[in-house]
Formats: sequence, C-alpha cells, structure tokens
Amino acid sequence: MTALCRLADLEPTGAKGVTLEGGREIVVVATADGPRAYLNACPHTGVTLETFPDRFLNAGRSELICSMHGARFLVGDGLCVSGPCLGRSLARVAIVLDGDAVIEA
Ligand code: FES
Repeated sequence: MTALCRLADLEPTGAKGVTLEGGREIVVVATADGPRAYLNACPHTGVTLETFPDRFLNAGRSELICSMHGARFLVGDGLCVSGPCLGRSLARVAIVLDGDAVIEA
C-alpha cells in the first residue's frame, strides 16, 4: 500500500500527478463520487497526459485531456470519449481512503 496524495492536494486543479519509486506515473483525480486514480499513460502512445504539473483537466473538471493530441477521458471511469484513442480507457489504479490520505490498494 502506497500513499499517493491527500484529498487537499486535489483541490487546486482537481487532479494530482504522482511519480512512484521505480518511475510509475499515476494521476489522482477528484470526481463527484470521490477520487479516482489512473496510470498516467495515454492509451494512444503511452506518454504522460500533462504538459504542466497537475494540469490534467478541462475547465469543467469532467475530463482529463492528453496534451499530446487532445484525447479526452471521463474522470469517473477513464473512458476516452474524443480523440485518437476513442473507446479505449486509461488503466484504473485501485485506491482506498484512509482519512484524508489516498492510498493505492
Ligand atoms: S498521445 Fe495522447 S492523444 Fe495521442
């Protein structure tokens, strides 16, 4: 079990990029149903989604956007709804909450 971030870390931009030991990249995103976590790897080419730290979301905070070619992924389930990997999904990372801490399950 690895601590990824705290819920408060999600407030400024709605999402938080986390690099784990060994280099694995994860994005934790706030949703109306609580936080979700995904591997930060676009299904199109495998690149990380963001250009600027913790800037993953559209203005409405409903979609993660890949900065490379603009694919859009629903925050709730990671499904790509627009772009070159339409119909594919970000890989979900199982998490649990321990108080304010978001922990990889
Ligand atoms: S690399 Fe993400 S849309 Fe192309």
